Amino acid sequence: MTEALLTIENLNVSYRGSGRVAHILDGVDIMIGRGQSVGLVGESGSGKSTVAFALLSLLADNAEVSARRAAFDGRETNFGARETAALRGTDIAMIFQDPMTALNPLFTIGTQLVDIQRQRFPNENRRALWARAESVLADIGVPDAAGRMHRYPHEFSGGMRQRVVIAMALLVEPKLLIADEPTTALDATIEAQVVEVLHRLRQRTSASMLIVSHSMGLIAELCDSVVVMYAGTVVESGPVGAVLHRPRHPYTRALLACEIDPYAALDPTQDLATIPGSVPDPARRPPGCIFASRCPARHDRCSDRPPRRQARDGQAYSCWLEAA
Ligand SMILES: Nc1ncnc2c1ncn2[C@@H]1O[C@H](COP(=O)(O)OP(=O)(O)O)[C@@H](O)[C@H]1O
Ligand SMILES: [Mg+2]
Repeated sequence: MTEALLTIENLNVSYRGSGRVAHILDGVDIMIGRGQSVGLVGESGSGKSTVAFALLSLLADNAEVSARRAAFDGRETNFGARETAALRGTDIAMIFQDPMTALNPLFTIGTQLVDIQRQRFPNENRRALWARAESVLADIGVPDAAGRMHRYPHEFSGGMRQRVVIAMALLVEPKLLIADEPTTALDATIEAQVVEVLHRLRQRTSASMLIVSHSMGLIAELCDSVVVMYAGTVVESGPVGAVLHRPRHPYTRALLACEIDPYAALDPTQDLATIPGSVPDPARRPPGCIFASRCPARHDRCSDRPPRRQARDGQAYSCWLEAA
């Protein structure tokens, strides 16, 4: 068993507004071991970004966040704003879906890659920081890195911008790297290149990773274990190989069935074509199994909350049915 870098138990997030309370996350558990790469998968709207944002205190002001327990790097934390602000950009770095959100159009790439390192390496001079930035850029496959350091974000293609953002995240040498749909905004050929960069990174860095994606194929390629979310609840988790080859929760099975080509990303706005029905309203969550209304294996007991079952190979799933 690897030592935990991040442990979150029973994470709940809700929003209050116009007389309604929307429960977005309900009892989410996540453990990321040191040096481990964990994938968070689920349909659009299942709460994946909410998990990532909660870790960094980046949720909207009206979000109510609670957890039974949260610990990062051996310390208990309440993920309060002040605490996480100190971790953000040093111990935890995040790569967003749209690289432009992380880049300032007014400064050269070189200046931005230098500035991002200042908090982490306050005693190093600009020249040393510049050289490090240039070598990381070259490392992750940006051609003519020396020349490109003097260019502005708009002079880069989408795929090259995402590489710059990955370089930014790497330069702070984080303990945890969170990538939220890092390839969703890119077209298919560029996506493959960025996956390749993340893949190399995975082999080279000792950082733990949390990769958020609606694509099981991407997660299979980049992660050791996977957490499957449906409507703000973890329905299944475990080692990637086990979950892929023997999905035990009916939702995981449906999700995999939708990805005929595991390397082709799903349209993030598209609902699960093969599952009739829709995701429950977060303001009116059913008391029993959250997936029951759409589950092909539904029966009477599903109106009660299903037990969490532990399978032999490290897989865990929440279902009344005991899968073989
Ligand atoms: N500020 C907010 N107020 C109310 N609901 C929100 C807010 N932000 C996000 N949500 C809701 O949270 C749910 C989960 O969103 P998100 O975490 O972005 O899902 P994913 O990343 O899996 O696509 C969605 O139903 C979304 O509408
Ligand atoms: Mg998201």
